[in-house]
Amino acid sequence: MLWILAGFSILPVTLAAALSGNIEISVNDVTAPNIVNVHLIYHEPDFKKHSFTYGSCDIASPVNSLHRVATIPSGPSSGHDSRLVWVVPDNVSPGGCIAAWDMEGARIGQSEPLSLDSILQDSFTKRDRIPMTNESGIDAEGPWFNGVTLLKSKDFGAVDAKKIKEKSIGILGAGISGLMTHFLLQSVGFQNIEISESTGRVGGRIRTEYFELPESNYQYQEMGAMRIPLTAPIPLGNETLTLNFTTHRIVFQLSETLNELNKQHESFKVDWIPFIQNSDNALSLNGKKRNPDGSIPTIGDVSKNSSLGASTIHTAVLEKLNAELGKIMYDPSMMKLIASNVYEAHKKFLDVGLNGRGGDQWSQVAYLHNLLGFDLNTTEIAGDLSNVDAPFWVNLYDNLFFSSTEWKTVDKGMSRLPNAFKPLVGDDLKYHRKIQKIEYLEDEKKVQVSWKKNYTDRGFQNAKYDYTFVAVPFTVVRKWELPDLSTTLSHAVASLGYTSACKVALEFKTRFWEHLSRPIFGSCNTKTDIPGIGNVCYPGFNMNSSGPAVILGSYNLDDYGERWVSTPEKEHAQYVLDAFAQLHGDIVYEQYTGNFKRLCWLEEESNAGGSWAFPSLGQHQLFIPSYFNTEKNIIFIGEHTSYTHSWIASALESSVRGTVQLLLEMGLVDEAKEITRTWMGRWVTV
Ligand SMILES: Cc1cc2nc3c(=O)[nH]c(=O)nc-3n(C[C@H](O)[C@H](O)[C@H](O)COP(=O)(O)OP(=O)(O)OC[C@H]3O[C@@H](n4cnc5c(N)ncnc54)[C@H](O)[C@@H]3O)c2cc1C
Ligand SMILES: *[C@@H]1O[C@H](CO)[C@@H](O)[C@H](O)[C@H]1NC(C)=O
Ligand SMILES: *[C@@H]1O[C@H](CO)[C@@H](O)[C@H](O)[C@H]1NC(C)=O
Ligand SMILES: *[C@@H]1O[C@H](CO)[C@@H](O)[C@H](O)[C@H]1NC(C)=O
Ligand SMILES: *[C@@H]1O[C@H](CO)[C@@H](O)[C@H](O)[C@H]1NC(C)=O
Ligand SMILES: *[C@@H]1O[C@H](CO)[C@@H](O)[C@H](O)[C@H]1NC(C)=O
Ligand SMILES: *[C@@H]1O[C@H](CO)[C@@H](O)[C@H](O)[C@H]1NC(C)=O
Ligand SMILES: *[C@@H]1O[C@H](CO)[C@@H](O)[C@H](O)[C@H]1NC(C)=O
Repeated sequence: MLWILAGFSILPVTLAAALSGNIEISVNDVTAPNIVNVHLIYHEPDFKKHSFTYGSCDIASPVNSLHRVATIPSGPSSGHDSRLVWVVPDNVSPGGCIAAWDMEGARIGQSEPLSLDSILQDSFTKRDRIPMTNESGIDAEGPWFNGVTLLKSKDFGAVDAKKIKEKSIGILGAGISGLMTHFLLQSVGFQNIEISESTGRVGGRIRTEYFELPESNYQYQEMGAMRIPLTAPIPLGNETLTLNFTTHRIVFQLSETLNELNKQHESFKVDWIPFIQNSDNALSLNGKKRNPDGSIPTIGDVSKNSSLGASTIHTAVLEKLNAELGKIMYDPSMMKLIASNVYEAHKKFLDVGLNGRGGDQWSQVAYLHNLLGFDLNTTEIAGDLSNVDAPFWVNLYDNLFFSSTEWKTVDKGMSRLPNAFKPLVGDDLKYHRKIQKIEYLEDEKKVQVSWKKNYTDRGFQNAKYDYTFVAVPFTVVRKWELPDLSTTLSHAVASLGYTSACKVALEFKTRFWEHLSRPIFGSCNTKTDIPGIGNVCYPGFNMNSSGPAVILGSYNLDDYGERWVSTPEKEHAQYVLDAFAQLHGDIVYEQYTGNFKRLCWLEEESNAGGSWAFPSLGQHQLFIPSYFNTEKNIIFIGEHTSYTHSWIASALESSVRGTVQLLLEMGLVDEAKEITRTWMGRWVTV
């Protein structure tokens, strides 16, 4: 399927072109980091060895040029879309020309003078996006643009963009990161792409369970991703600053683009509606604490009289410790930076985030107890039992995202987002291919992936690709047979930490919670001390309707996210129902339809990890750069390879990074820049 994104033409805008000789030479644009495609049109089919230089436009011989751009053994037999990859040196002076020379030193082509300065200026200042510079945290020499280093060390000669785009690309996994990668590659003209998905559906961890179809019955709950945070009010002295999260904007940009491409077709349209996270009328159950009238206190009641809520420990040393923790977790400048530019925040935190110390090198225990000298007991209490020994970064951004007061969800279910890719993916998607093995065929320079039709088969089915994206969680990939990878990358695959989540949804005949004396219209902020219940969420959509509706009766993370796996489903569902009856009384039993769904992600073979990446100490700092190296023509993407985890935006960011990585690997600099411009941080004000 061929289509062109509106306003997203990849045809070069010729800024400098001239015909002086037999090779027409033009340059699209020169942006930081300074790598460009030099476009060539050959007016003579057969050329012997020739070279390209950059230098003053009036030089008579290549010897007088500033530097060599490329040498090409012979001209292209048929010039489709020939290009050079030019790594522009930092000290280059503007106004020069790229010239082509034959071996006798005769000029056989020359570009117009290149006013590099003005092009450079134009590139990043006009648009409000994050420039790829050290200052913005996207180290031009480091992870994001390892491509530059790569290109410096690679001698491409001439690349034929048209031929390159015929190369075969495999994508393993049709979660949102695999789908997005297909979409991005298609958008720059690749047509030979195949996605292998182990299950019979798309979307992976975006998974709406519909108890009754059609979707417009609104009898569903989200067993995976359910909400996108938008803004948070942050108290700053006596003021409140509203922080707008740029990280998640890519999700909305994607849905807008898909809606346009799908021509707003009803079956594939993605509409956002508010997600109600908080309600004052949600209950707060704490042992036997009750209102004077005997009713269970609401969140609103507790905010008026805190003794109705959970008792908290107050000691002088705990207060001191919390003040130290607050300096890190609630540092206004860091919160602002996370909201505006998570890349820069990530870099800064890893460099000096813990009061000048590296943020991924100290666990909470190490920092508070070993370094600052707080006693273990106080440290443990502040750490709130779970993850006391975890690093700070994940908590830092998630604390902020969860302080959001404005959230969105997809009308009629989040699964509509991955489903909206279906018309664009078409036959490129192969279901029920559970990949078990990847090999690199050295002779052919191809990647071979293998699966079995039936696990009882002894033989494998195979497919071969020039390049392969692995968009499957490492917890699954670590069970595969893989080619030799570098030490760090193979250790990342084998040992990256994950956490677990488990959800139980229950169906009721009516929305009785909306008819209480203090009605509950949506929300996820119910508090209960019943063990192993975690969050309870009431549906914030289709409110005031009369038919059946589904609540999320329990949403657990971490230890409880794993623990319930050993309890049979039906028993677990009954436990959650009984807990709901503790909140609302016997009406719960009268109204229950008997229908439930449980999804503990640890039980899900396609996501053997449990829910999402939760790197342990030092893993973020050490592993992330290794994902930026393409080894054996394989590129790893997915939420686990991003700067943040556990969000749809994390998965999408990884697809943009991975696609740019491949395009640079192939010498398609113009396309790499176009993807970056369109999909990375265009929404950011800097
Ligand atoms: C319980 C839960 C709640 C969440 N809540 C939110 C939220 O509210 N907001 C938010 O933004 N994000 C949320 N997330 C995170 C978000 O869902 C993920 O970050 C994102 O969907 C991950 O996408 P992915 O493409 O990286 O991986 P996945 O979605 O896991 O995609 C991987 C794909 O690979 C396939 N696969 C697996 N094994 C194989 C194999 N052997 N061969 C071929 N294919 C295979 C899988 O079937 C799957 O389709 C939540 C996640 C969970 C689990
Ligand atoms: C960017 O920062 C890295 C270290 O973070 C440093 O090694 C590199 O030299 C810097 N590059 C530039 C161009 O300043
Ligand atoms: C807020 O604080 C600033 C200085 O911190 C002070 O000048 C200002 O008067 C305060 N505003 C209010 C409304 O208290
Ligand atoms: C956040 O940014 C978006 C996009 O620029 C804008 O539409 C929205 O109004 C902003 N919200 C707030 C609260 O500033
Ligand atoms: C707050 O709640 C406690 C416990 O129920 C109760 O004893 C106390 O009177 C309440 N205080 C007020 C001001 O209502
Ligand atoms: C830990 O601190 C709490 C709160 O001050 C206290 O009740 C408890 O006894 C302490 N435990 C130990 C082992 O010191
Ligand atoms: C796999 O093969 C076995 C043995 O031949 C057969 O019984 C089973 O039905 C097959 N399973 C599937 C899913 O095809
Ligand atoms: C639901 O109905 C109540 C009572 O009629 C009304 O106050 C409320 O605004 C309605 N809510 C929605 C979301 O329609």
